[in-house]
Amino acid sequence: MDEVARAVSTAFTLSNDLRRDTEVTILFVANPPPRARRVDLVGARLRYLNPDERSTAALLKNALVRSVDFPRPFESSPGLTVAPSDPAADLRAFLSRPNPVWLREDGEPLALWASPGGEVAAVVSDPYDPTAEESDLLTEAGVARVSVGPRILRTSQVIDVLHRELDLREAAGRGPATAPP
Ligand SMILES: C[S@@+](CC[C@H](N)C(=O)[O-])C[C@H]1O[C@@H](n2cnc3c(N)ncnc32)[C@H](O)[C@@H]1O
Repeated sequence: MDEVARAVSTAFTLSNDLRRDTEVTILFVANPPPRARRVDLVGARLRYLNPDERSTAALLKNALVRSVDFPRPFESSPGLTVAPSDPAADLRAFLSRPNPVWLREDGEPLALWASPGGEVAAVVSDPYDPTAEESDLLTEAGVARVSVGPRILRTSQVIDVLHRELDLREAAGRGPATAPP
């Protein structure tokens, strides 16, 4: 949970602001269905996300606890929805979003990755590598594999590096210039 909270915090927080054009989907798959859970965070609506990761972890834990045995998606706090998950189906759905990319230590260097502009749907794993089933899904979907550097980084660090690159490309007018309204 520490790593997940740090990744969520890094994905959304700026200095005294939030990235309102960012969304994060987390698959909690330690328990198989029907107890597996998906948490969706939508930057445009998010509230109560503070810079300290302890409170982010509490926000996520609260959502997970409240959703135990609850069979339908619900908004646990503004911009944070928790739902039962079929992890493979949810990963497939995520990969059907525009411009999916799989962040991997052994991928194509980020500088060489020709981001198509607009939305990017990036997949990162937690401290454990994707399962064989998840890797197969990603491979079959033909998702671009991109590396942000030669070192194995923490998930949150990878998110930081990718955000920076996309920020630079946006600023230079050749990347995701179309933030949702
Ligand atoms: C802590 S790493 C996973 C564990 C790692 N395989 C190990 O041997 O310790 C978490 C995730 O961040 C991403 N990642 C780590 N380093 C990366 C890099 N240099 N480029 C792209 N993604 C990276 C991958 O998605 C990876 O699965």
